[in-house]
Amino acid sequence: MFIEDVNKMKVGIMGGTGNIGEGLARRICLGGKYDVVIGSRETSKAEVAADGVVCCLKENKCTLTTCSGATNADVCDCDIIIMSLPFDKLESTIETIGKSKFENKIVVSLINPMIRNPKEKYFLPDCPTEGSAALALKKLLPESAKICTGFNNVAAGKWMQLEEELDYSVVVCGDDADAKKRVMDLVSSVSKLQPLNGGPLAVSGIIESITPLVITLAMNNGLKDVGVYFR
Ligand SMILES: NC(=O)c1ccc[n+]([C@@H]2O[C@H](COP(=O)([O-])OP(=O)(O)OC[C@H]3O[C@@H](n4cnc5c(N)ncnc54)[C@H](OP(=O)(O)O)[C@@H]3O)[C@@H](O)[C@H]2O)c1
Repeated sequence: MFIEDVNKMKVGIMGGTGNIGEGLARRICLGGKYDVVIGSRETSKAEVAADGVVCCLKENKCTLTTCSGATNADVCDCDIIIMSLPFDKLESTIETIGKSKFENKIVVSLINPMIRNPKEKYFLPDCPTEGSAALALKKLLPESAKICTGFNNVAAGKWMQLEEELDYSVVVCGDDADAKKRVMDLVSSVSKLQPLNGGPLAVSGIIESITPLVITLAMNNGLKDVGVYFR
């Protein structure tokens, strides 16, 4: 147990104060295998979110892991960095931090660019010219950064409902086998998520386009927080 604690990997969440970030932080910490750093443009905002996670860990008597708040730049010191930002804020965030901070890092994109049709009840992917948000992210980062998709299709509303298991598939795409394995390990540490190897990052556009579909299905069928389980 002691050795495990010393070697515990750190997961940082950029934009971890948002709709998804704090629930994601709670779930990862409760999994008991990774400490989490919540990142924000404002340290105080990140610290408030991290305090919420620490309270949740206490309530659940989880002493294995911990959570702290920091700037988005500090998140780059973590072993795995999750980019939980709106797609259109990605480039400016990386510019502010400096892309060299991402050298050799494992970077997870859960970003799904999409647009809503204002009149009819549907969403469509708003795919960037690179083919996906993950591929656009790859272009913004140093070549040594290892980009993977992960957590794209888990509904935002589900992350904070800790009384419910997350019984979904999470497709992990990426071009670096070791990074992909580490991200799949992270996925399997969370609730009942099922990690699936989705192949190279070239597949990421398909993964990102599932989310506008599941939101459209929810809207048109009176469903809530629709997710995907491949079996
Ligand atoms: N909604 C879903 O069901 C769903 C499911 C899966 C994946 N996703 C994806 O998850 C990502 C995060 O979604 P979310 O709903 O959590 O996003 P969000 O709450 O709108 O934003 C996340 C964080 O981004 C930061 N941010 C906002 N404006 C910014 C700016 N101008 N510059 C830099 N940072 C800024 C904020 O952090 P600070 O103010 O603390 O800096 C904010 O807390 C999105 O890319 C989305 O596509 C969504």
